Order: sequence, then structure tokens, then C-alpha cells
Amino acid sequence: MKILDQMYEGKAKQVFATEDPSIVMVHYKDDATAGDGAKKGTIRDKGIVNNKLSNALMQKLEKEGIPTHYVEELNDRDTLVKKVQIVPLEVIIRNVAAGSFSKRLGVKEGTPLKAPTLEFSYKNDDLHDPLINHYHALALGLATQEEIDTISDYAFKINEILKKILLEANIRLIDFKLEFGRLADGTIILADEISPDTCRFWDATTNAHLDKDLFRRDLGGEADAYQEVMKRLLG
Ligand code: TMP
Ligand code: ASP
Repeated sequence: MKILDQMYEGKAKQVFATEDPSIVMVHYKDDATAGDGAKKGTIRDKGIVNNKLSNALMQKLEKEGIPTHYVEELNDRDTLVKKVQIVPLEVIIRNVAAGSFSKRLGVKEGTPLKAPTLEFSYKNDDLHDPLINHYHALALGLATQEEIDTISDYAFKINEILKKILLEANIRLIDFKLEFGRLADGTIILADEISPDTCRFWDATTNAHLDKDLFRRDLGGEADAYQEVMKRLLG
């Protein structure tokens, strides 16, 4: 597949056109930001971990009936994916209180939730990705009711599948963020990535952070933690 011009550069990835108009190539960088770009840095070989891990998890999800953008891993940092129009919602599933949920609702980080919960944020950097509800999403025309139903259904199913895979690697899935996209015919599929950048992973024995919170909170050891997650999940 011939790779053409860069179409877009995000904080952690670059997207390139290919000779097939329905396929794009994602390149995973080591760049990391936190707090809406207020903190900038790099995490050594993060791009490799996120690329390989996200691809492996998406292939497992496909086998369980979740449609994803994954097409083909080209090398350590580059992957072909289906071109989508991203639905401008960050879809967050939580199993255990942490991060902004703990702050907003005054629930101690680490408190298990009585049921998994779902949040939508409006993907808009200028507004700092504000929390919205599904009526806001409809009112703003971000998605249709049918799309929101499909997305919510997939997100809870993904949670069950991922929790199981991770626990086998002695990792607790605390919470995570998903993004979905529309194919040309309107079909909703899982897009973006599933990685330690977009999930909270805690060691199931020690509750040690194995994710980007190490970077966000200046705790250190993030590069090693990413390698550890890759080793546990991919061998
Ligand atoms: P939060 O507790 O800060 O709202 O984060 C919830 C989950 O979403 C957590 O697993 C990290 C992930 N996340 C992203 O993927 N991108 C972001 O920009 C933020 C703020 C969180
Ligand atoms: N999206 C955040 C930022 O732009 C990164 C994060 O907290 O994951 O800085």
C-alpha cells in the first residue's frame, strides 16, 4: 500500500492518506501531553507499546463481535486503519472511582463503583473536553440517538471483554476512554486507540499505576510501566 501525504497531526499520533481512499495509516509518536497540553514530554517507546497493544486488543474485540478500525500492523509504530469520520465524543467507562470522577463527586480514588458507569465528553480542546450528557450530544448534533445507543452498547461490552483479558494479566481496568467513528455508509466502529494513554491500569496485587497517570502526576517510571503492560499482555 502506497503511503501518501500527512492528513493530520494530533498530540500522540500522525495520520497519513494512502492510495486507498478508505484506508489511512496511523503513526504512533512517543510525545505525551497532560492537562490539555499544559505539560509536554515524551515517554520512551510509548508509540511502540500503544501501537502494538491497541492493535492486539482491537483484534480480540473484533473476535467478540465489536467492529473496529483495525486493518493491518505495518511495523512497530505504523498501522493501517479504516478511514472514519470521528464522532466528537470521548466515551468514558469507569469501574472504580479515579481521576476527574473522584474530584468531581468526592469519591475516594480506588472506591469500586456499584455498577460500571458511562460518561460523554465533548471532544473540543478549546473547551477542554467538557463533560456532557446524551441530550447535549443530541442537541449539539454530535450524534443521533441511534448512534448513541450503539456506542453505549459497544462501550459496556468492550468493558466486559477488556476487564477479563486484563485480569488474566493481573491488571485491574479502573476506567478508560474510547472514540468511535463513522464509515462512509454510516456504520459505527471503534476507532482511536486502547492503550495506557487512554486507560487506567492498576496492578491487581499492589494497585500500582501502570498507565499515563505516572506521567500526568509526575510520579515517574512511566516508560517502564508501559513496557510492563506490553510484556504482560503480549508476552
Ligand atoms: P479522567 O478521570 O481524567 O476523566 O479520565 C478518565 C479516563 O479517560 C482515564 O482512563 C484516562 C482517559 N483519558 C484520556 O484518554 N484522554 C484524556 O484527555 C483524559 C483527560 C482522560
Ligand atoms: N488529553 C490530555 C492532554 O491533552 C492528555 C491526557 O490527560 O491524557 O493533555
